[in-house]
Amino acid sequence: MSAPDVAVVGGGVVGLAIAWRCAQRGLRVTVVDPSPGSGASRVAAGMLAPVTEAHFGEEPLLRLALASHERWPAFAAELSAASGQDLGYRTDGTLLVAASEDDLREIQRLHRFYDTLGLPAEALTGRECRSLAPLLAPRIRGGMRAAGDHQVDPRRLARALHAAAARVGVHFDHRRAERLDELDAERVVLAAGVWSSQFADLPVRPVKGQILRLRAPGGGAPGFGLTVRALAASRSVYLVPRVDGEVVVGATSEELGHDTTVTANGVHDLLRAAIDVVPDIGEYELVEASAGLRPGTPDNAPLLGLTADPRLIAATGHYRQGILLTPI
Ligand code: GLY
Repeated sequence: MSAPDVAVVGGGVVGLAIAWRCAQRGLRVTVVDPSPGSGASRVAAGMLAPVTEAHFGEEPLLRLALASHERWPAFAAELSAASGQDLGYRTDGTLLVAASEDDLREIQRLHRFYDTLGLPAEALTGRECRSLAPLLAPRIRGGMRAAGDHQVDPRRLARALHAAAARVGVHFDHRRAERLDELDAERVVLAAGVWSSQFADLPVRPVKGQILRLRAPGGGAPGFGLTVRALAASRSVYLVPRVDGEVVVGATSEELGHDTTVTANGVHDLLRAAIDVVPDIGEYELVEASAGLRPGTPDNAPLLGLTADPRLIAATGHYRQGILLTPI
């Protein structure tokens, strides 16, 4: 086979989406990854949440996140049709709730920050929160709703991107890339997440996230449709309910290099926070505890575009937002 136009190193959702798009435009593309979709994409919760993931001082990242969020509906529709697969894309919205008066003050502070940025969020009393998610604990003091913060199932997303890419002729090379100069391609796209800094001088570092998957009893849908994020004694937890009965509970944030150990403390802290907010979670089946590595960067924003090496294009460092930023 002659050399491809583009070699994409890394078959997570970002690399797969780039490969799909390049092949749609007529380029010959190879994705180099021993096991596509098995890195951070497999562990991610899948929140498409530019508002509730907005942080002080990250306005440029917010603009990118909002631009990608705008593309999600059309992207999801096109990808579902191209792959013949359901992505588990849900637009029920997100509730951010407070477990104490101090936590509520913090949410009110966030609300003022969202207001200054023109981000839509609606303040709610505890009673209003419970009317939207009746399984919330009585101790919830109040919170706010970000109706535009949605979700997708990242595992389904990765499978669908893989299928859509294969359908337009993307070739998959299951060897582990060792060095970029070994790749015989006109252009190389580096989408290797936390492994990117092994290939090029890019400031990407691993930020570990432990995350749980639980299942509603009897295989039914969880008793809440919105994503619930909570502040409890200043710690944050999120619960992401899927239509198929799964609830994802996450996530820790730890700077421990490439360590992906699931620890008793990690699981304990996540479960305690989740059960404090939605007590019924205690009766759910715990089906998975895993840890992934977010590709962090100095300013928490991704590294995108041409590099000093004229053959190399970076598409990495998506940190907490890789699923949201996939369309853009
Ligand atoms: N975006 C959620 C997380 O990184 O835990």
